[in-house]
Amino acid sequence: MFKNIKSALEPQFVDYQGLKLPPRSMRLGSMPGKSDETYVRYAKSSVKLLQRTTGADPNQRFLDVGSGPGRLLIGMLAKWGSVGCYCGLDVDARSISWAQQHLGQSGDVRFELLDGLSERYNPQGVKIDRTFRFPLEDASFDLATLFSVFSHMWLFEIEVYLSELRRVLASDGTVFATLFVEDDVPDEEENPKGYITEWSGPRHCIRLNRPAFEKMALEQGFKLASFEHRAMSSGQSVYVLTARDG
Ligand SMILES: C[S@@+](CC[C@H](N)C(=O)[O-])C[C@H]1O[C@@H](n2cnc3c(N)ncnc32)[C@H](O)[C@@H]1O
Repeated sequence: MFKNIKSALEPQFVDYQGLKLPPRSMRLGSMPGKSDETYVRYAKSSVKLLQRTTGADPNQRFLDVGSGPGRLLIGMLAKWGSVGCYCGLDVDARSISWAQQHLGQSGDVRFELLDGLSERYNPQGVKIDRTFRFPLEDASFDLATLFSVFSHMWLFEIEVYLSELRRVLASDGTVFATLFVEDDVPDEEENPKGYITEWSGPRHCIRLNRPAFEKMALEQGFKLASFEHRAMSSGQSVYVLTARDG
């Protein structure tokens, strides 16, 4: 109850050095407990990681799947000042509605709601199956990012997303994704005991078998450009995949 009262008293957004940040209660992961400065620094470090691993630059067309309330876009604006074209997608209606209202919903910056089922983030959503589509045109993006999104999804859903990513990316497009993968583990496992930390609640951590994930990415038309095992402080690994005929 106190949490609800606290969030009702929060401002709609935080103005930090000219950037609009979501109020603390809307920030994801460990971020609600961190300062605005740390939030922006962490967002900028994600952009730096993207630049290092994919050569990302502000003139590309970005698709941020599982965008939440736009942390990555905020990092881009903090680092680059502006971004040519950005679209955020998420199953969390509150995040998308906040981002549409405060970060942009026209022209080159926009956010769209996906109604995919996630027991963790969208329990009333529709099951993600082969008929599931992103509300986006073919070949309309250069770089797709998924920071901590496949880490909450089952393999059959990831397969659908990879297929959709292949469709909406240009023929030389790139996917950047962080996820929990290990060798010599079951193909997929929810909240594995004794793995990195204590997990609680549905889909807190879905850990995948590395060869199983890579085989699936190959079958969906991607090749592996780079892999960094447990490169994120969360213990997630970093994948860069490129379209196979690119
Ligand atoms: C740990 S948060 C990361 C948010 C953001 N990528 C970031 O780094 O700040 C996971 C996000 O993925 C979203 N998500 C989970 N399952 C999803 C799905 N199937 N499709 C799209 N977004 C999803 C959640 O709603 C949430 O915003």
